Amino acid sequence: MNKKILVTGASRGIGYQTALKLAQEGHTVIATARSKDKLLKLQKESQNGEIIVIPADLTLSSDIDELVRAVEGLQGLDGLINNAGAVHRQEFMATEISDFKKLMDVNLYGTVRLIQALKPYLGKGSHIVNISSMSGFQGSLKFPGLSAYGAAKAAVIGLSEVLSKEFVEDEISVNCLAIGAVQTEMLAEAFPGFDAPVSPEQMGTYIADFILNGHQFYNGKILPVALNDPS
Ligand SMILES: NC(=O)c1ccc[n+]([C@@H]2O[C@H](COP(=O)([O-])OP(=O)(O)OC[C@H]3O[C@@H](n4cnc5c(N)ncnc54)[C@H](OP(=O)(O)O)[C@@H]3O)[C@@H](O)[C@H]2O)c1
Repeated sequence: MNKKILVTGASRGIGYQTALKLAQEGHTVIATARSKDKLLKLQKESQNGEIIVIPADLTLSSDIDELVRAVEGLQGLDGLINNAGAVHRQEFMATEISDFKKLMDVNLYGTVRLIQALKPYLGKGSHIVNISSMSGFQGSLKFPGLSAYGAAKAAVIGLSEVLSKEFVEDEISVNCLAIGAVQTEMLAEAFPGFDAPVSPEQMGTYIADFILNGHQFYNGKILPVALNDPS
């Protein structure tokens, strides 16, 4: 059955591959990120898949309105994948409050803004999947220099757990995937030379399946999706 899914951060990396996989499987995808050219490349690559491209900066409420209009046009959503994110790697003592705010604005508040704007369009049986990181997962191996990123991703975890309870009566499931290293441009920029064991295609395939089926098994779960961590 065709589902309507919105994927943020779909211009590259994990979000791109997740959107591509969903479209190739016959689902209707709203793909968003700031880079229109890359979203159009995704649309082209999907060939017969239905991908609606909406360029948007999740830190701007006017851009969120554009996404709401697109969802209204589809008459609702079955799934929302809050995947867009940014990283900042710097020693804590040199990291400015403005760096923390910047990461919160994308990773946490972008997710908050979108869920608040789109909740009225998420029907019974729909699924919200928030993408966090092992950097924000309790007990995982931590990397020095990721204080702002780890804090923002831990906040996404807390948000997900609370919303899963608040949305029970609406029959909207909320889960969070705390993912480990995936070989994307983000990872290469933050950790040059690091060789991740998972490709964006593999993770995109996993997330595409999880948004469609994960809520049959889980609600309010923070699931580590990482090979060796915590060991
Ligand atoms: N790769 C890893 O090893 C890893 C590990 C753990 C968790 N994660 C998480 O997985 C998610 C995807 O990561 P990735 O590695 O695929 O990263 P990526 O390649 O850097 O992609 C990030 C995406 O977010 C979008 N984005 C960034 N700022 C935005 C903004 N203000 N408004 C709208 N879109 C914005 C980017 O598009 P534009 O620049 O076009 O806007 C891009 O499509 C992130 O949440 C990341 O934190 C990744």
